[in-house]
Amino acid sequence: MKDARTAGDAAPLELRIDAKSYVSADGKRVEVVRGLELRLEAGSFGALIGPSGCGKTTILRIAAGLDADFRGQILTPGAGRLGMVFQEPRLLPWRTVEDNVRLALPVDRSGVDLADLFDTLGLGSHLAQYPGELSLGLARRAAIARAFAIQPDFLLLDEPFVSLDEAVAARLRDELMALTTRTKVTTLLVTHHLEEAVQLADRLFFLSDRPTHVIFEKALSLPRGTRSKEDIASISEEMRSLVAQAVTGAGPR
Ligand SMILES: Nc1ncnc2c1ncn2[C@@H]1O[C@H](COP(=O)(O)OP(=O)(O)OP(=O)(O)O)[C@@H](O)[C@H]1O
Ligand SMILES: [Mg+2]
Repeated sequence: MKDARTAGDAAPLELRIDAKSYVSADGKRVEVVRGLELRLEAGSFGALIGPSGCGKTTILRIAAGLDADFRGQILTPGAGRLGMVFQEPRLLPWRTVEDNVRLALPVDRSGVDLADLFDTLGLGSHLAQYPGELSLGLARRAAIARAFAIQPDFLLLDEPFVSLDEAVAARLRDELMALTTRTKVTTLLVTHHLEEAVQLADRLFFLSDRPTHVIFEKALSLPRGTRSKEDIASISEEMRSLVAQAVTGAGPR
């Protein structure tokens, strides 16, 4: 059940997925999520970190309202615009990069100047190209531009920087940091990359294997945007040991 609150509520994101399963092609039922609870304050940035195949994309699709076939309840931050960056770039192959981004815009903003955004993402010289002509890295940047262009109130990102070279990924992380700090958009990011999560997020949610749930959750006390490389490395080390303790039952939860 999904209940989108009215705009301007500044309400938190609340996900409660009691159970979510799929029936696979051979008819077997696969339980993907069980007993997952997650709350994210309005305007804050959460990161979901979990093992491959545990159900992260499934959780984001439910949060986005794309999958209503689950038991539980979702309260989203408002009736505002949702920006979503899928794990695969999902661009329309018959549209140029620029058209792919502009198609997401509401009619009253369709002619808006996106030069800064394109420039930031290094897309300026690729606007007239079609997705089939792009490297995966460029396609990812176009997908990120599309999500940012609509000025979302609620942003969901599914491993947006995976398979980019580290220099580009680092630049895009900085851009995401700047955007989310400026707009205070409530954001949930899925990543495998703990350091990335520690750099970007206010709150980390560590997920178990399937059926997945939150095994450990941590609000980072040092404000985002003020963490040095050394801070990020040491917080990540601390998180690894706290998660290991949580898994073996000796941890804080
Ligand atoms: N439509 C579907 N039908 C059947 N099974 C599915 C479907 N979508 C996902 N699954 C299964 O559910 C499980 C979780 O998938 P999901 O894509 O949510 O995991 P993930 O954590 O995002 O994985 P990854 O780390 O590879 O991105 C996997 O075992 C997957 O095979
Ligand atoms: Mg996934």
